Parts: sequence; C-alpha cells; structure tokens
Amino acid sequence: MTAGSLNPAQPRPLAARRARGLSGMAQIPGDKSVSHRALILGAMAIGETSISGLLEAEDVLNTASAMRAFGADVMRDGPGDWRVWGTGNGGWKEPDNVLDFGNSGTGSRLVMGAMATTAITAVFTGDDSLRRRPMGRVLEPLTRFGAEYSARANGMMPVTLKGAVRPIAVDIDVAVASAQVKSALLLAALGAPGRSRIAQRELTRDHTEKMLTAFGAEIEVEPLGEAGEAVHLLGESELRACRIDVPRDPSSAAFPLVAALLVPGSEVTLPSLLLNPRRTGLIDTLIEMGADIAIVNERTSGGERIGDLIARSSQLRGVEVPPSRAPSMIDEYPVLAVACAFAEGRTIMRGLDELRVKESDRLSAIAAGLKACGLTIGETEDSLTVEGRGHDVPGGARIATHLDHRIAMSFLVAGLASREPVSVDDTAMIATSFPEFEMLMRNLGADFQVSNR
Ligand code: S3P
Repeated sequence: MTAGSLNPAQPRPLAARRARGLSGMAQIPGDKSVSHRALILGAMAIGETSISGLLEAEDVLNTASAMRAFGADVMRDGPGDWRVWGTGNGGWKEPDNVLDFGNSGTGSRLVMGAMATTAITAVFTGDDSLRRRPMGRVLEPLTRFGAEYSARANGMMPVTLKGAVRPIAVDIDVAVASAQVKSALLLAALGAPGRSRIAQRELTRDHTEKMLTAFGAEIEVEPLGEAGEAVHLLGESELRACRIDVPRDPSSAAFPLVAALLVPGSEVTLPSLLLNPRRTGLIDTLIEMGADIAIVNERTSGGERIGDLIARSSQLRGVEVPPSRAPSMIDEYPVLAVACAFAEGRTIMRGLDELRVKESDRLSAIAAGLKACGLTIGETEDSLTVEGRGHDVPGGARIATHLDHRIAMSFLVAGLASREPVSVDDTAMIATSFPEFEMLMRNLGADFQVSNR
C-alpha cells in the first residue's frame, strides 16, 4: 500500500440515488484517532507494541511511514494487525527526507508534538488541503518547550521544525478547542524534564491521555469545573510497549448510521463501536431528534466504552445543538446537517468555528451543498441553520467536495434519500479515513453509480 500526496489520485465522481431500504451489519473499520496514537506511542516506547484493528487508511499509513522515518520498526502482520518496535522515549533519529502526511491534520500535528522535544529537525508537508490548514496553533505553543520552526505565511506547510536541544517543561492553557493541539503538547511534554501542565477549557477527546496511561506514563487529569481540565504529565519517563485493540470508529459509523435513519424501511446494526462519551455527540443529538437508535451490549475494552448500535428508519425533528456539544461531534456536523435536511422543522447548530479549518471550510461546503440540493440554509461565521423538508428533499445536485472525505460521504448519504440523485465531484479522498465506505454501503443496499456528469 502506498500513501502520500505527491501523486494525487485521479478524481473519481460518484452518484447516489434513492435506495429502497438499507439492511444488514456494518463492520466499521478501526478508529482513526486511536490508530494514529497507537503508532506514535508505540514508536516512542521501549519494546514491541502489538496493535489489532488498526485503521488501514491513507492518513494512518502516512503516520506509520513517518514512524519508520524516525527509526521505529513498523510491521504489518495481517489485516489490522500491526507491530511496532519503538526506540524508547527520546530515541528518535532525524528523518532523511521530507515527511508527507497527505491529507492528515491529526497525523502531522501529533508528530510535530512528539518530535518537538528531541534534538532533531524534520520537514513536514501534505496535500493541497493540508497545506492550506493552520499549523501555528501547534507550532507556537511548541516554541514554549524550546522548539523552533519556519513555515509559510500563517504557519502553513511546508514546515521545518527544529526540536529543542534543551527542552523545558511548560504550563500552558490551550487556546483552541482542539484535541490535536492538546495531544501534540502532551506528546512534546514526554521529552521535557519535569512536570508539564496542559489545560483546556473544552473537554476534547481524551484518547491520548488514556493511551499514555496504558503505556505507563505518569499522568494525572485534574477537573477544573467550568474551566475544563488540566493534564499533568511527568516528562522523560520511560514508556512501556503494550497491546492496543483499536475499537471501531464512531465518526465513520456516522455515515451508515444516518443513512439507515433517512432511508425508509432500513435496519442496520453497527457492532463494537467506540462510545467514548467525548465522541458520542452525534448519537445524543440524533436521539434527541427522535432517531430510533438502540445501544446494546455495552462493555469496556482497553479502557474505552464500546457497544453495538441498531438504527432503524426514523422521522427526525429539528433541534438546537448547543456549542458545548461541538467537541464531542466535531467531525459529524456534515452528516448531521444532511440528517437535519430530512427532519421536520428547523435545526440550529452553534459553536462551529472550528469547522472552518478542517480538511475544507466545512461550514461553507455544507451550506453550499445543501443549497444546491434545494434546502434553505442560514450560515454565519460559526453557526448553521437548516430548514428541514421532512422526506421531501429535492437533491439533483453535483457537490463540490474540496478534497474533503466527510463532505463526499455526507452528500452520498443525502442522495440515498432525496428525490433526485446527488453526485459528488470526487470520492478518491474517502480512502484517507474509510476506504471500505463504498463497498460497505453497497452491501447494505446503497445505489451508487460512477458518474461522469
Ligand atoms: C482529532 C481531533 C479533531 C478531529 C480530527 C481527529 C484527533 O481535530 O477533527 O478528525 O484525533 O485528535 P481537532 O482536535 O483539531 O478539532
């Protein structure tokens, strides 16, 4: 398998038309956030980390390549089964070439953090989407540890990061509601002697904290009430290799889940999904909207809550989605907005400013796509209003995806339930997070056709 952005794939348009009813079992691949972290911490630990259920999508494969470039041995034994022999904390070597992270904000930012307190220099780049995304949010706080960098205007890639020769522990309040930034700083703190404190007002996903505990790091999470929480981490301690079972990705599950709710006559089961409460904002919102979703067989695996979901066709109604919920469903707004188009009444989603700096400006891509499908949409700098049309969404549009996998998958879901087919201008980038998407949806009964229109 090859990944990276230097030879971008040809665009591959696809059309979705109204489906009769989706049914069956959707075996969702491994969680992307957990997969990146398993490879990175495995590469920083001593000994052999074995990983099962790793997401084998382009974003994660680019992180695996970067770990090899820093001197870790990374081997694939079979589908989802990987082994990483780490160098030990502080043992990374300087990569002998530019690191290409393709489409992945998570991979690139986490790795910037992990190398920022080692005395090596690395050059980071990515595809046309990633090279437009802000890296200053990670690079600026990394200078507090003693790292230095140079970048294009507005901190954009290509970026050269020079790790701190004599790193110092930090006490930082993270200004943005981003788990990537928090995680980058935690990984950097591993290389700085003494205790670092990383605080954040919003409760963003906590997979890095959980996994650091599993690797034996000395870490403590201090709740701060209204002010969020502070993570205290002791640097320069040894990380011990461990076994990681990657649970299935709720952000990928969101697409067949919403499709099952929207297409009349559907019932889809989604087994063993990661149900970390900091990732379940979409499920909570859909249930509030009247979705028929049953959560069964709840259990704990590797410190994470998991469970099976059964989703059946539902008539949804519009709701108000508060800004406080944004961190727990940040990647799910595109497909939630599609669900809202098919709901009765108005939905208002607030606190969406972070959507402007994802793989595309998602707020404007969603608004433009839904308008093209015949919806009435209100868009402000950080909110979206969708006037739902019940089961009568016209569709009949060709959607610009702007190199954004989640925009592509969301509008294909819209096409499965709208009056006229919906096509997307490209599906190639779906492979960055969910290569099985098209096949999995077809197996449930989705009607997709390669479209040159
Ligand atoms: C991620 C955090 C989120 C999310 C991304 C994965 C992570 O980004 O959008 O897909 O694994 O930490 P931000 O933390 O920048 O919001």
